[in-house]
Amino acid sequence: AVDGTVLVAIDGPAGSGKSSVSRAAADRLGFGILDTGAAYRALAWALRERGDDIDSEAAALTLLDGWHYGITLRGEQRVTVELPETVGIGGATDVTAAIRANEISALVSRVSKHPVVRDRLNAMFRAMVAESGLPGVVIEGRDITTVVAPDAPVRLLLTASPEVRAQRRAGDLPGSSAEQVLAELRARDEKDAEVVDFFTPAPGVVLVDTSDLDFEQSVQAVVDAVREAQEGA
Ligand code: DC
Repeated sequence: AVDGTVLVAIDGPAGSGKSSVSRAAADRLGFGILDTGAAYRALAWALRERGDDIDSEAAALTLLDGWHYGITLRGEQRVTVELPETVGIGGATDVTAAIRANEISALVSRVSKHPVVRDRLNAMFRAMVAESGLPGVVIEGRDITTVVAPDAPVRLLLTASPEVRAQRRAGDLPGSSAEQVLAELRARDEKDAEVVDFFTPAPGVVLVDTSDLDFEQSVQAVVDAVREAQEGA
């Protein structure tokens, strides 16, 4: 717990059900939800918006120094960015939908590969949780159980087989075939895994394989893990 806020750390690959399951579990527990991938996506969006070099660590750090990033921890997700040049003059842009574009998904790993950028975002995530004033926050990402909140009382790794993950994503993206989605998913997994290993549970991290679970069963598995940890505490 950070300042009385119970932390639930959840990692997993794309299509594991991580985002939707984490959100539903947080709602049921009366906790907030912090989607950390959204910040990496917003950073990629902002670099592109400014015409900066996507691969430049210096450009990313300049942005992090001057931007205002906002994300709702309760209710419907809303992500906003104020670029350094517009901070304070009402220039917040709602990027909630824009950061989900395929174009951005394909760019993010070029931003998230810099360890210093990761350190800075991780500090921001910890501050957001500490300042949330909420009874609990579910934090989800790739390195939450290992780097961002290794001391969280509940740490889970959600996985599913690549085929199941591709099917779920194809369901989210009308017009794309499962084969095409599977190929894209494997490519992104490979790039992301160069930075953090989110397939192997670290010591003390509970593996939840959702391949054979439906949505409701997956949510229940997360809620049960939190309740068990709270009873044991
Ligand atoms: O979970 P997502 O697909 O929205 O994540 C977007 C990208 O950000 C993904 O390519 C991996 C990266 N990411 C990361 O490196 N570390 C995190 N804690 C969360 C996301």
